[in-house]
Amino acid sequence: MRYADIYKSWQDDPEGFWMEQAKAIDWVVPPTHALNDSRAPLYEWFTDAQVNTCYNAVDRHVENGRGAQNAIIYDSPITDTVRYVTYHDLRDQTAALAGALRDKGVGVGDRVIIYMPMVPEAIVAMLACTRIGAIHSVVFGGFAANELAVRINDATPKAIIAASCGLEPNRVVAYKPLLDGAIAQASHKPDFTIVLQRDQQPCDLTDGFDFDWHAVQDGVTPADCVPVSGDHPAYVLYTSGTTGAPKGVVRPTAGHLVALHWTMKNFYNVNPGEVFWAASDVGWVVGHSYICYAPLIAGNTTVVFEGKPVGTPDAGTFWRVIQDHKVRSFFTAPTAFRAIKREDPKGALIKDYDISSLRALYLAGERADPDTIIWAQDVMQVPVYDHWWQTESGWPMVGNPAGIEALPVKIGSPTVPMPGYDIRILADDGTEMPTGELGSIAIKLPLPPGTLPTLWQAEDRFVKSYLTNFPGFYETGDAGLIDEDGYLYVMARTDDVINVAGHRLSTGAMEEILANHPDVAECAVIGVHDDLKGQLPMGFVCTNKGTARSDAEIVADCVRMVRDSIGPVAAFKLVAVVNRLPKTRSGKILRRTMVSIADGADFKMPATIDDPAILDEIRESLKPLGYGR
Ligand code: COA
Ligand code: AMP
Repeated sequence: MRYADIYKSWQDDPEGFWMEQAKAIDWVVPPTHALNDSRAPLYEWFTDAQVNTCYNAVDRHVENGRGAQNAIIYDSPITDTVRYVTYHDLRDQTAALAGALRDKGVGVGDRVIIYMPMVPEAIVAMLACTRIGAIHSVVFGGFAANELAVRINDATPKAIIAASCGLEPNRVVAYKPLLDGAIAQASHKPDFTIVLQRDQQPCDLTDGFDFDWHAVQDGVTPADCVPVSGDHPAYVLYTSGTTGAPKGVVRPTAGHLVALHWTMKNFYNVNPGEVFWAASDVGWVVGHSYICYAPLIAGNTTVVFEGKPVGTPDAGTFWRVIQDHKVRSFFTAPTAFRAIKREDPKGALIKDYDISSLRALYLAGERADPDTIIWAQDVMQVPVYDHWWQTESGWPMVGNPAGIEALPVKIGSPTVPMPGYDIRILADDGTEMPTGELGSIAIKLPLPPGTLPTLWQAEDRFVKSYLTNFPGFYETGDAGLIDEDGYLYVMARTDDVINVAGHRLSTGAMEEILANHPDVAECAVIGVHDDLKGQLPMGFVCTNKGTARSDAEIVADCVRMVRDSIGPVAAFKLVAVVNRLPKTRSGKILRRTMVSIADGADFKMPATIDDPAILDEIRESLKPLGYGR
């Protein structure tokens, strides 16, 4: 079958399409129907089924003869380690940790926060939770204690599983002080923690509260897989919204299994037993779906890579990993390739490696710029597929369905909608835009299996954020257009979310932090262009009159406050002190105009601007930062 036939078969009979895909999953009680629309416009999938995620990702492969196959290859250039975990090992490790959690009182529906670097134990921890029906929430290691505290308060976990440290190329990141700080700051307190001690920096454990990863598993009876209902949350993953409060995206168990399984062959074009590598982090949705769950559900081998595209030790690392582990399909963010290209513009290092195992490169997480795509194609000599999705969807919404049929690549477009996604371009009044014209990218409800049914403990926010502006549609927050061949082009965000090195961040959250500085009267944060990271946050602050502190001191405070509060991953280093901010006559800050000035792009003078002269002041203030020329 060709892509168009498959997409049409879904359009003609969505229920039948997903029931057919559901056959690939081992159910305890199979679903009798796919969609539950009893609470429309809130939808759920496979609600009457009983199933276990860990069983489908691990145990069934052991039972079906894949026990000796590698489930995980851990490759850590930072520690100079390669370790293999077979499906058999993974089952035993997962069952033991799940047993320890169960014995300490964690059960179905309890939340467990996981704060771990890129080590196989992070995957074991995630699977141990789903094995017993506990709901995990992984927090990215580059976030500061405050962000962890916010998530502890929202998820109210019974337990936290952490490592003693993470490893960045230039430093060891001690996790335990961050963890202790977050617990001290949070109003909710977990019952206990489990800590994986790493040789690079072990930590002190508090008796009776912090339990050693290995000691806590000693002598426990391994836990069996506990069936849960299809709509039971497998996990909650927090992502940036427009305010400082992150959104807890809920991932439903059954839809997640069915949809992710479908993507591995049809989209990423890998067969069971083949090696799939997503160079991301378990703290992001790409890590959840394509380092942990999807490759394991489909019986692939997944690579857990603890390193960076450059500097660990050099820009040839990706090629070495592809060669050594015979990677078939490779997924990363465009920024990683921009980093490699900057270090090794001619791609000279690739000549030292044999990457003939590789079929294709998949890029997502941010806009894939044409230069990067063309460079990657030239250097790697494999097809490069851009694809578009978000934390909320959990799997690709638009891409090139190479496992079904490789469609012609149009550089600048992630290609076409996957089955399940009816994508429309809407004007502000909700009417459809003509072909080729820019508007809000929206998806006709219901969203397909595996996508978010709601936000954790925040149904009203879910409805308000995604379902209200365009009734009957899910609002993606992206703007774009669809061309005459049905190809989507994603152009920009419609909200205050920015994308820094493939990491989704909220400028609103940064403004909330800067506004807390006692000498800051007013502020704005925008996303400006950066050749490496795609975007960087840039702050503008107006200081209070008569402050004793110098502008330079206030700028340094602002940088430190964002780093301490959100974390180093915010990469917040650019701050300009200005006398006033450009506003409309009604007092709205003209952030988009400021972005255009910073990026040196053409813009139309906003008709409602209060005082156009401010724009020259803004331009001048940007020059010392290397922008606005
Ligand atoms: N734990 C602790 N700190 C972390 C971290 C983690 N897991 N990840 C990043 N950081 C820190 C970095 O050390 C850096 O700190 P610094 O300001 O002290 O130098 C800061 O956060 C910014 O990190 P990063 O965005 O990684 O920038 P970089 O300059 O160190 O590296 C790239 C640039 C392009 C190499 C890097 O961003 C990269 O590999 N990107 C790939 C993106 C990706 O996989 N995205 C996932 C979505 S698919
Ligand atoms: P996240 O939820 O962190 O995965 O971020 C999702 C957002 O990243 C999307 O809403 C887009 O704004 C952006 N994004 C992801 N993939 C792409 C892509 N292929 N092209 C353009 N933007 C993308």
